[in-house]
Amino acid sequence: MKDTNLKQFPKNFLWGASTSAYQCEGAVNEDGKGPSCQDVKELPAGTASLDVTADHYHHYKEDIALMAEMGFKTYRFSIAWTRILPNGDGEVNQAGIDHYNDVINTCLEYNIEPLVTMFHFDMPAALDHRGSWSNPDSVKWFENYAKVLFENFGDRVKYWLTINEQNMLTLVGPVIGTMMIPEGTENVLKETYQQNHHMLVAQAKAMVLCHKMCPNAKIGPAPNISYVYAASCKPEDMLAAEEFNAIRNWLYLDMAVYGRYNNLVWRYLEEHDATPTFAPGDKEALEAAHPDFIGFNYYNTTTVEYAPKDLKKDVNDKMDQQKGGAEPGYFMNFKNPNLPTTEFGWEIDPIGFRVTLREVYDRYHLPIVITENGLGAYDQLEDGQVHDPYRINYLRQHITQMRLAISDGVEMMGYCPWSAIDLVSTHEGIRKRYGFIYVDTTDEEVGSLKRYKKDSFYWYKKVIASNGEDLD
Ligand code: BG6
Repeated sequence: MKDTNLKQFPKNFLWGASTSAYQCEGAVNEDGKGPSCQDVKELPAGTASLDVTADHYHHYKEDIALMAEMGFKTYRFSIAWTRILPNGDGEVNQAGIDHYNDVINTCLEYNIEPLVTMFHFDMPAALDHRGSWSNPDSVKWFENYAKVLFENFGDRVKYWLTINEQNMLTLVGPVIGTMMIPEGTENVLKETYQQNHHMLVAQAKAMVLCHKMCPNAKIGPAPNISYVYAASCKPEDMLAAEEFNAIRNWLYLDMAVYGRYNNLVWRYLEEHDATPTFAPGDKEALEAAHPDFIGFNYYNTTTVEYAPKDLKKDVNDKMDQQKGGAEPGYFMNFKNPNLPTTEFGWEIDPIGFRVTLREVYDRYHLPIVITENGLGAYDQLEDGQVHDPYRINYLRQHITQMRLAISDGVEMMGYCPWSAIDLVSTHEGIRKRYGFIYVDTTDEEVGSLKRYKKDSFYWYKKVIASNGEDLD
């Protein structure tokens, strides 16, 4: 493509970055917060406890000031359900409301639009004890929580995200520490997709409620979308890629946008006797909801090949968010030989980002905000500095591809890499750092918690100031 054909980033493009409450706030027992499933889970060996993490709960003013210094137009953060409703439903905790009012108001003082995730992997433990998402009442619990959020913050928050990575909760919930399956469940797949169904209905109801209670606000889903390549041009591999694209990606976006199950997924569930039960009114609730935009997290693409029917299932043992695992008779993960990997083994595929953006826009024709994208690495603090050229390089390549996607006609609203500040990874501790801002603490012990600007901080500041023109 000639450079002259390159379109610019839109004028009001929302440059920013993301965090999630349980991964960065700490203060797990403070100001009336109830425990979430993350607070009570068994931590992976050698990873930092979630008691302090980056201590953003106490440092948010300093952190948001640093985000403002980088020129952020938006800050994507999540609200901890258990700060607002310590038991998941019932009494509202005013201290929790006060805290997020302060966070939101601090953002607004700097002209930073809050982009608020309602639920990011932190189910209230009290609701887990009542059956979690298996309980049909979970739809009401979430709708009630949504109502409290809209009532208290809807006058100022213009952008809402419903559920972070519902697809990863469904596919690899236990890796993340969520998605409790009741003991003695015979058909785990059926139960998992019943939970998923409840979440989908809950999301639909929250979207409708948002439009009713906050007519000026916009709301969208936030799954993890990664285009699935076929390992070869064998027709069986192509079918495998279509199957996994449907199971991993399109189920969630088809449902959010069109309110109907993807046909390939439905057939797959039928074949496993795992179709979810619809409660009266679910069909109508799903069809009534319409997102204003699509938010999605992108880290890399996935590649699969056809999996023979007699394949041993235990290949799923090594699965994490970004990998396909295996489904005998359908697909299995294939290591793409064309892609480099991060220190943590995640493939890096900036062109795949453009492919994914084009595909998502082609399917749904809604504006897109990238809610996560980034590189986890073992950063080193030396003489108060962190040199992270690998992160700059990763982000530069992805921003370049995003701009090409805009030139392809994809409507982009914003870009929020993961993560604004260093925080604890889902299962690999704080040694796996993603932030523009280094937080002095380790998996072994809580450090000074002092903040340091990484090289990527200064680089991203230039990117934002030039509205994506200066990527050097
Ligand atoms: C996404 C999640 O899956 O990826 C984040 O929304 C997570 O919560 C991020 O931290 C990076 O994954 P990980 O496993 O490296 O923390």
